[in-house]
Amino acid sequence: MSGRPVYVAAHAPGALPLVGHAWPLLHRPLPFLSSLPQYGDLVEIRLGRVRAHVPCHPQLLRRVLSDDRTFDKGGPLFARLRDLVGNGLGSCPYGDHRRQRRLVQPAFQRARIEDYAGVMVDEALRLAAEWRPGETVDAFPAMFGLALRTVTRTLFSSCVGEDEVARLQRFFETALAGLFRRIFVPAALQRLPLPANRRYAHALAGLHGCVDQLITGYLSAGERQYTTAAHQGPCQGEREDRGDLLSALVAAREEGSALSDGELHDQVITMLLGGAETVAAALTWALYALTCNPRVARGLHDEIDQVLAGRPPAYRDLPHLPRTSQMICETLRLYPPAWLFTRVTTRPLNLAGRYLPLGTTLVISPPALHHDPALYPRPADFLPDRFAGERPGVPPRGEFTGFGAGARRCLGDTYALAQTTLTLATLTQRWRVECAPGTDIRPQPLSAVHRPRHLLLHLAPRTPSPHH
Ligand code: HEM
Repeated sequence: MSGRPVYVAAHAPGALPLVGHAWPLLHRPLPFLSSLPQYGDLVEIRLGRVRAHVPCHPQLLRRVLSDDRTFDKGGPLFARLRDLVGNGLGSCPYGDHRRQRRLVQPAFQRARIEDYAGVMVDEALRLAAEWRPGETVDAFPAMFGLALRTVTRTLFSSCVGEDEVARLQRFFETALAGLFRRIFVPAALQRLPLPANRRYAHALAGLHGCVDQLITGYLSAGERQYTTAAHQGPCQGEREDRGDLLSALVAAREEGSALSDGELHDQVITMLLGGAETVAAALTWALYALTCNPRVARGLHDEIDQVLAGRPPAYRDLPHLPRTSQMICETLRLYPPAWLFTRVTTRPLNLAGRYLPLGTTLVISPPALHHDPALYPRPADFLPDRFAGERPGVPPRGEFTGFGAGARRCLGDTYALAQTTLTLATLTQRWRVECAPGTDIRPQPLSAVHRPRHLLLHLAPRTPSPHH
């Protein structure tokens, strides 16, 4: 027998006229997407009027993600995403991608991430110190603020005030919700002066304005206004090499690699978008998982007390915090923040026996694989031990697609794992969390990132257990 699998193509049932599968996608996205593998290996769904195909077999998905020339960025999500991020690294077509990735990659080298880890811990300590015993906090906004401050400080070495973070957060939320809604709304309606369209336009203009200010401030202000790396408080650094992404991009531009002002702007907004909401969602779900799994929480607290003995974590501790890392991996499996992204075919081809004309949309959905019992036994259970064979701090292999795959795989994966692990360790070292009344973990509707509507956490202080 040949080793080549025979794939089955199918249609998802339940499409409604005009809207297709918009209702289940918006209201119960994970159960809907996780149900698709039962129908076939390549399953057709409808996003409004657009027909799209979801690869539900791991090898088929790998094939799509590893051939980024044939399956290029595109489709309804990216068409809208470009309103926000223009032609940045995450949204640019194949033809621009290799050059952009080469320019941006140096900012994510291991040595850089080691430096960034100091800022990550610094921000987590700051949040842990703000919390009060008995207080109830809304987890996602708290994690979003932390993640946005961290990505801004690490990648742009600049100080962002609380007001600016709050403004950016509001603009992002409105723009992202509008962007997602627009996938399902006909183009003619999007141009009408309706309140929702005006809010979207206002949020986009606000975001672009904020990012322009950030860049102008960075380029024009004296160097002593900036921090160069970790271990310094905000706004105190004086070194010439600012050790950040923007420095790398500006340097590349000065060497004549034709990175335009517009591209610089697009990269900044790409990093803010890619690096804040996703990380915040992962941390929020990790905290939620702790509240529901006391045994996992105990194991985590034990590990943290034993390894850190009360001191804050550092980058070098990551290999010694396997339970914490496995908890993050399992969180990303069960609650993948990037729950849907799209590709478009750049030539006609046959896939799983189905003819796909040029311009066909494919929907990539990690939950379609992450919740498949054939790949992950007891898929609905939170079992961090299933990642016990993985190396701590290194993104898991196998069927895990939470960071995508191939040439367009997440550039911030190592950054994200370091940040989520270090933040979780710092917060849970000092605080025990429980779900408070008012929690609503249904997914936030119209959100590009999968996250709960409200996770309210009741905080109780803890001291590291004495026997370690
Ligand atoms: C838990 C957190 C994160 C998750 C789940 C996540 C997920 C993803 C996924 C699934 C992709 C691929 C999208 C596609 O193939 O269309 C991606 C791409 C990307 N991510 Fe992340 N990401 C996370 C954190 C970050 C962080 C912290 C940064 C930067 C600070 C970042 C920057 C990027 C960039 C630049 C790309 C585009 C890469 C390319 O096309 O070459 N991400 N991310």
